Amino acid sequence: MSIESPKDLEALRRIGFIVADTVKKMFEYARIGMSTAELDAYGKEVLDGYGARPAPKLCYGFQGSTMISINEEVAHAIPGDRVLRSGDMVNIDVSAELDGYFADTGFTRPVGFAEPRLHELCSAGREALDLALRSVTDGGKMADVAKAIRGVARRRGFSVIENLTGHGVGRHIHEPPHHVPSFNKKVDRRRFKKGTVLTIEPFLSTGPRQAFESADGWTLLTPKGNYSAQFEHTVVVTEGEPLILTAA
Ligand code: CO
Ligand code: CO
Repeated sequence: MSIESPKDLEALRRIGFIVADTVKKMFEYARIGMSTAELDAYGKEVLDGYGARPAPKLCYGFQGSTMISINEEVAHAIPGDRVLRSGDMVNIDVSAELDGYFADTGFTRPVGFAEPRLHELCSAGREALDLALRSVTDGGKMADVAKAIRGVARRRGFSVIENLTGHGVGRHIHEPPHHVPSFNKKVDRRRFKKGTVLTIEPFLSTGPRQAFESADGWTLLTPKGNYSAQFEHTVVVTEGEPLILTAA
């Protein structure tokens, strides 16, 4: 969507804060030995407390309220009996709706005692998001987002998952512009427009460049032994720096 009024902006700020706060609180609540179903139930409680509805369930009939993806799982894993273990890489992605407005955010963090390269991968992922956001400005090229992400991945010795991208958001969880790129495959001449609400969400990995769908029809995977890190913000394009709606 494109912001048309102060009311739009206010409503988006509200749901933006809610999803960001939910991810933050879920990471605080996460413990070694806890199942992703338990962690998801807590996330649902936080969303319920705000009166917000989980978007994956609302829009696509997803079985959980939040998405918690571990190690070789890149994204969209269904909460269940998988238990958090020390050294796991954990991604929590929360998208939700309030009063007809949607926002989407996520980040990744190792739990317990993790290999240094997992911390390094998270730091690179966060850097990729921060740098990519600098290209998000009225008239800026979408392709520059991909260039920034690829540059950070290369410099820090990681790969970019090419088939997962940012997207428009606001009145639905996924809306135009679709596929705000993390990787340049062919010429992309699209430019950002002031007022557009969208996500930037690079996925960096320890090697794989594609995530594939598992048999459950939801979970996006890389081969076992690989790790990935996603960092996602919902933002509004302005004439200057983008307005980040999902900072908690
Ligand atoms: Co998300
Ligand atoms: Co998203």
